[in-house]
Amino acid sequence: MLERKEQVLLTRIFRFSASHRLFMEGLSDEENFAIFDKCANPAGHGHDYTVEVAIGGEIDDETGMLINRIDFEKQAAPVIEELNYKWIDRDIDFFQENISTVENIGKYLWQKFTEIVPGRLDSIRVWENPKSYFEYFEEKQDG
Ligand code: NI
Repeated sequence: MLERKEQVLLTRIFRFSASHRLFMEGLSDEENFAIFDKCANPAGHGHDYTVEVAIGGEIDDETGMLINRIDFEKQAAPVIEELNYKWIDRDIDFFQENISTVENIGKYLWQKFTEIVPGRLDSIRVWENPKSYFEYFEEKQDG
């Protein structure tokens, strides 16, 4: 018989506004434009980002909860606030070494949120516009 394991998934939605510019250090404006198109505009541009943080696991026998959401909210707020109304390439160290693509914003947020809920993070979705999102997750590995 197929064994089933209890799993609960919580998705918390956050929003922030930020500006950025996609460019590679050492390339000319023309070369950057060829790769990143208008996202390489030297004056930068902004987005209203939506982030979906999915947390998975089992229900705690004592509390009946997946996680303590009050604790989670307290720890999550500064992570989002750190990005809000920032020029993220300039203001956030991670994006001085990683181009501020949606993919890398997902990676950055994964690193931040996995410290808050170690081993419980399922995925991070980042929407830069209403048409598409990137989903970042790190595969669980045995051992
Ligand atoms: Ni952009």
